[in-house]
Amino acid sequence: MNVGIIGSGGREHAISHSLKNSKKVNTIYCIPGNAGTKEIAINIDIDLKDFDQIKNLIIEKNIEFLIIGPEKPLVDGLVDFLKDTKVKVFGPNKAASQLEGSKIFTKNLCKEFNIPTANFGIFQNPSEAKIFLEKSNYPIVIKADGLAAGKGVYICENISNAVQAVKEIFNGKFGLAKNVLIEEFLDGEEMSFFIITDGKTIKKFETAQDHKRVFEGDKGKNTGGMGAYSPSRLINDPLEKKIIEKIINPTLQGLKDRKIEYVGFLYAGLMIKNNEPYLIEYNVRMGDPECQTILPKLETQLLDILLSCTNKTLDKIDIEWSNEKSICVVVCSNGYPDEYKKNILINNLDKINLDNKNLCFHAGTVSKDNQILAIGGRVLNFVSLSSSFLSAREKIFNNLKILNWDHGFFRKDIGYKVIDL
Ligand code: AMP
Ligand code: GLY
Repeated sequence: MNVGIIGSGGREHAISHSLKNSKKVNTIYCIPGNAGTKEIAINIDIDLKDFDQIKNLIIEKNIEFLIIGPEKPLVDGLVDFLKDTKVKVFGPNKAASQLEGSKIFTKNLCKEFNIPTANFGIFQNPSEAKIFLEKSNYPIVIKADGLAAGKGVYICENISNAVQAVKEIFNGKFGLAKNVLIEEFLDGEEMSFFIITDGKTIKKFETAQDHKRVFEGDKGKNTGGMGAYSPSRLINDPLEKKIIEKIINPTLQGLKDRKIEYVGFLYAGLMIKNNEPYLIEYNVRMGDPECQTILPKLETQLLDILLSCTNKTLDKIDIEWSNEKSICVVVCSNGYPDEYKKNILINNLDKINLDNKNLCFHAGTVSKDNQILAIGGRVLNFVSLSSSFLSAREKIFNNLKILNWDHGFFRKDIGYKVIDL
């Protein structure tokens, strides 16, 4: 069958890579894709807001199965828009995608179903928020309600930072704001927990830990993700049981009660404290870079798993994983997450050592006249699998030495909590 993948990041390159060996796959179309997906798929440059054009392409290229990588088209309702066409679409519909699209929707669900999460308040204007902030303990967390590409969260150490954050949100920094979410600060260690569901059955889909801050030691600004490793060091059977029973199941039941069906990946961003899970946020997709570090460990055909979700036969599939440790190091353009130069040549990609355990997934790259140019903030994802996190990271560093790209940088401490030097 012809398969379409929506997105252009490392996550979508990793998905294309996992699909390419399936005997069922004929041609893969990446919309819009990057220089890496171009080696596997046909890239088609379409604005992801233009649902009509996406629909026309699906019909024209006879795409039978469509996988939606990023959150925006899910939250904007691409799944609903394609409902009356023949294509099978993997991903949650617009109503279900509110889990990521509206933090307030999720918090209210948590409250109704006793899902463990930070205590919170929702405020309609800055003065109401200020009265609350005057009585609060610090640090405190201030959040914009809607999608903000990971930027709408402020951890505030004192009242003046908090008041400023509230002001910025109401002034429209992340789009029109009718309200602001103020949350208790949760102490603990974060974990990304993934499940996949067809609406009836849920199956776990590995754990990971990402590194969101730009500098070593988890310092500096938040980014889309500077690297990840899988599995998380925190996961164990009792904790997994608690996550499923206290967080995932009541969430999916809560959606069902609201007549909302959830099909797709569900990514719970969790804070773990004393082996107890607290929900920080939901994402209605795979994580990036978690996807790049998790998928190479998958031993079952990804296409079969994803298809079983749209066919509602996930109960018939056993999802098998390699026991190896996986690390992903992200190479970014100098300046990221602030301003960076675009159209910068990347040499040496043909010299790095790649095989099925040593991979390089592209993100913000484009190929032009047989050359690879960096056009994004996050540019390349180097992933290695090995018997230990240390040796996996060593293999990545060897390749990064060969790459020797002085227009970019990477964190040398990805996985520091699982690597003793
Ligand atoms: P989010 O976009 O909701 O994932 O938030 C971005 C990051 O902010 C998270 O990965 C956490 O590191 C941090 N964060 C969000 N909410 C809280 C909270 N209530 N307590 C502590 N840290 C938080
Ligand atoms: N790794 C964070 C995210 O995908 O949102």
